[in-house]
Amino acid sequence: MPESPFPVATTAVRLPRYTKAEQDELLGDADDPFGVAETGLTWLPKEEHFGIRDGDRLVAHAGLLRLPVAIGDAETEVVGIGGVAVAPDMQGRGLARIVVAAALDHARALGLEHALLFCRPPLVALYQRLGWHPIDQDVRVEQPGARVVLMPLRTMVTPLRDDAHWPPEPVRLLSLPM
Ligand SMILES: CC(C)(COP(=O)(O)OP(=O)(O)OC[C@H]1O[C@@H](n2cnc3c(N)ncnc32)[C@H](O)[C@@H]1OP(=O)(O)O)[C@@H](O)C(=O)NCCC(=O)NCCS
Repeated sequence: MPESPFPVATTAVRLPRYTKAEQDELLGDADDPFGVAETGLTWLPKEEHFGIRDGDRLVAHAGLLRLPVAIGDAETEVVGIGGVAVAPDMQGRGLARIVVAAALDHARALGLEHALLFCRPPLVALYQRLGWHPIDQDVRVEQPGARVVLMPLRTMVTPLRDDAHWPPEPVRLLSLPM
């Protein structure tokens, strides 16, 4: 039998926790592993975590939490996805697809209509491959000191139900971004 090109377990599991040490193990302890420091934004930690392990080593992660949001005048909730990360030596093997899919399966069970994430422009095409689409309306988010700022990163959404349609109105996250 030829050796599998995927020596790691390719199923994602729910993680009981996701510590800074685990993030460092995944992406290294560089100051800005997500490349978003220049935005100067303060981010929320995620509340639930999914990961892929290679033996004892964590090699992929995606986090999520429910977030209050106003779309136009309508207040609702979305599932915010964040902290998507794959160990550098494991990238390009479909692990982000698997771990994000696991987070979205869980998100669907929460009964909300949409998931939302923020990403740098070079990652838009990757998330489009995973079934997300960028939205063009303004997105505002809260920041410490009761400030509300325009999100400088791209905002992408994906439906969690077949009948979900993202409205075209301006978006305001009623929390810090995730
Ligand atoms: C972004 C990141 C999570 C991607 O992880 P990955 O495991 O390499 O991604 P995958 O291999 O699962 O690729 C997902 C899909 O996007 C596709 N893809 C990858 N790069 C692409 C690109 N530049 N344009 C279009 N599609 C792309 C892949 O082919 C794959 O599609 P397929 O499954 O249909 O073949 C990883 O590079 C990373 O951890 N980066 C550092 C942290 C970071 O920036 N996280 C993002 C926070 S929003």
